[in-house]
Amino acid sequence: MQSPESIDDVQQLLGQTGYVCGRSLATVVFLSLRLGRPLFLEGEAGVGKTEIARALSAALGRTLIRLQCYEGLDAASAVCDWNFAAQMIAIRTAEASGGADRDALQKELFGPDFLIERPLLKAMRPDDAGPPVLLIDELDRTDEPFEAFLLEALSDFQVTVPEIGTIKAPEPPIVILTSNRTREVHDALKRRCLYHWVDYPTFDREIEILQSRAPEAAETLSRQIVAFVQALRTEDLFKKPGVAETIDWAKCLLALDVVDLSPEVISDTLGAILKYQDDIAKIQGSEAARLLQEARQTAVA
Ligand SMILES: Nc1ncnc2c1ncn2[C@@H]1O[C@H](COP(=O)(O)OP(=O)(O)OP(=O)(O)O)[C@@H](O)[C@H]1O
Ligand SMILES: [Mg+2]
Repeated sequence: MQSPESIDDVQQLLGQTGYVCGRSLATVVFLSLRLGRPLFLEGEAGVGKTEIARALSAALGRTLIRLQCYEGLDAASAVCDWNFAAQMIAIRTAEASGGADRDALQKELFGPDFLIERPLLKAMRPDDAGPPVLLIDELDRTDEPFEAFLLEALSDFQVTVPEIGTIKAPEPPIVILTSNRTREVHDALKRRCLYHWVDYPTFDREIEILQSRAPEAAETLSRQIVAFVQALRTEDLFKKPGVAETIDWAKCLLALDVVDLSPEVISDTLGAILKYQDDIAKIQGSEAARLLQEARQTAVA
């Protein structure tokens, strides 16, 4: 599938996969595809950052390669590793069969048969479907040395493996980086990317997302759910509910055959939208009833 020709195209293509994409997000996605620049997405938890990479790969028919970041992530886990166990067996077999050619053996041991490719190397390989989508998820969880390492990979779209040499992508992959901003990512890396802050959706957009992800929910209930979650986000909470929680909650309510929100139902199901006991304790009871009243007014407006 060819890259989209316009911003509208991006919205439509992503829409076909069920991803509801606002104009400003669609614009940076379009530019990132057009200019071949990595896209750096920051935002609160559960607002659809990771999902955009999935939606893009599905919409464009490209392979999705995901590098999940974590503290201590190093090049061996990100680029490639050697299969030590298989190498040992090959050495033992060569020894047993009586002194094989040492140079040939060494070459073989560090050849493709013993190489375990990790996401960054995979993303540099040619793909029949076209350049893959490389998702570098939750970058803020890694440390600065890894960021510096990434800088090289994303500047030239190449990685260097000491035993093999440099592997350069024939065509740059589509790179999406996400961060929850638990720490600031270095400017040098940001400078190589297009940046977009993914915010909580507006009321209308969140209704659209809910219709796409939980189409079984009736309109009245959907509006109440979204209005309540949006009201909840204005509260001073330790962890505000994301879009993921809205969808989860709708599915819970549907499973309970709820057609209309009530303070009791909300209290019983708060665990689907709030994940900290302090937040739950704060909202349960009279605060939930007050927010529901507010939400009912928004829902019918
Ligand atoms: N605009 C959207 N259109 C359709 N679905 C969406 C949208 N935004 C979020 N979702 C849904 O919300 C869920 C959470 O999205 P996702 O996992 O991408 O969030 P995230 O921003 O990566 O969160 P985290 O920071 O916790 O990783 C997904 O299941 C996705 O389907
Ligand atoms: Mg995510």
